[in-house]
Amino acid sequence: MTSPAAPAVEKVISRAWGTPHSHTLAEYRKRGGYEALKKALEMAPQAVLEEVKKSNLRGRGGAGFPTGMKWSFVPKDSPKPKYLAVNGDESEPGTFKDRYILEEDPHLMLEGIAIAAWALDVHTCYVYLRGEFKFAAQRLQAAIDEAYREGIFGKKMLGKDFELNVWLVRGAGAYICGEETALLESLEGKKGWPRLKPPFPAVVGLFGCPTVVNNVETLASVPPIFQRGADWYAKLGTEKSGGTRLICLSGSVNRPGVYEISMATTLRQLIEDPDLGGGMPAGRKVKAVIPGGSSAPVLAADELDVALEFEALKVKQTMAGSGGVIVMDDRTCMVRSLWRVARFYAEESCGQCTPCREGTPWQTRLLRKIEEGRGEPEDLEMLLNVATSIAPYPPIGLGTTICALGDAAALPVHSFVARFRAEFEAHIHEKRCPFGDRPWGHFGDWA
Ligand SMILES: Cc1cc2nc3c(=O)[nH]c(=O)nc-3n(C[C@H](O)[C@H](O)[C@H](O)COP(=O)(O)O)c2cc1C
Repeated sequence: MTSPAAPAVEKVISRAWGTPHSHTLAEYRKRGGYEALKKALEMAPQAVLEEVKKSNLRGRGGAGFPTGMKWSFVPKDSPKPKYLAVNGDESEPGTFKDRYILEEDPHLMLEGIAIAAWALDVHTCYVYLRGEFKFAAQRLQAAIDEAYREGIFGKKMLGKDFELNVWLVRGAGAYICGEETALLESLEGKKGWPRLKPPFPAVVGLFGCPTVVNNVETLASVPPIFQRGADWYAKLGTEKSGGTRLICLSGSVNRPGVYEISMATTLRQLIEDPDLGGGMPAGRKVKAVIPGGSSAPVLAADELDVALEFEALKVKQTMAGSGGVIVMDDRTCMVRSLWRVARFYAEESCGQCTPCREGTPWQTRLLRKIEEGRGEPEDLEMLLNVATSIAPYPPIGLGTTICALGDAAALPVHSFVARFRAEFEAHIHEKRCPFGDRPWGHFGDWA
């Protein structure tokens, strides 16, 4: 057991949140804003890239891919224009951090964009924002306009002969458009259907040109690296993951919210620390925790002494993912919860690949049957069989579909059943939900 107090950490992403006018350029400049860009512009682009590599920054969008390495895949000698596409789609259930960056401190991300553009020789950047984020869109557009007026974007960058144009594009409400290649299709004005990889976007991306796709928080993490140095940034984190990260804590805890933590913080500390989750509601006990957005395999109550860091969670056959931690207490019916998660992925499957298009509604129908007390003993094996056809588990990453939405839909099924099998069996044997009936409402025939 670890102590309930999480390791102390200096806030680098959220430090201005909640302070008056934190979203404006004037306030951003008062806290040293765009000084990091000045430093980066004095360095050669390759040296900027090396600094990002040294910082151990890893992508905060889901896969945790090393950012510097991703940038280094962009071919330097390509005659084609290069693009930066910022992923602000933020639709993974349990994830709600990027919107706060954009609402509270949009210039932090814009400065990250400018630094990345200099390092990568990018002159056009698109920020793809989840359509529902109206307020974030207003704040971001206002910040982009300020950056143009102040000579940060446009023909010159802080007086240097380097042109960067930044466009805000709002999505139309499809989860799949957060997948990087679907995002590129959507930016091109097409239906958001993922592309086969390879080729990877860094080589063949937007309009067939080299493109880096990075998450909002990833880019917001770039200016601190240049303000205080890559070594300092790397030391904020763990051996393989530099910096701090934002965690979205929801479910059965006293203080749900977005917290910036050290990646050495364990799940137990996140839940129990009085300054973070503040413990469970009176009389409740942890039953299960989803550590990285609803697609991350669930952990049971005896698995909470694990750091919220990419490698540590991988050892447990789960993922740090998008930083969405969902806490479930002892009142939770695991069949009902899994059914809810499964409905989301069935609804959001784009339909391109057969295992995902056919398998996700099939999972949903089987789970509904079990939850409603109509399950047969063979339904549980059938459920696992369908999930395995979409993506076997463990290990993570063996999905049979073009994109990882299939994995996202199958991994919860595998992990819920593996850890809470007795509960699924009880539903089948008792022919009812042991947690009682609920007025369900109507989810449509397939649900
Ligand atoms: C179905 C699906 C949805 C995704 N949604 C998002 C999203 O909303 N935001 C995001 O940043 N990454 C999302 N990703 C991950 C992206 O494909 C990509 O890995 C990420 O944007 C890369 O940025 P990073 O390296 O900075 O993390 C999603 C992936 C999948 C498979």
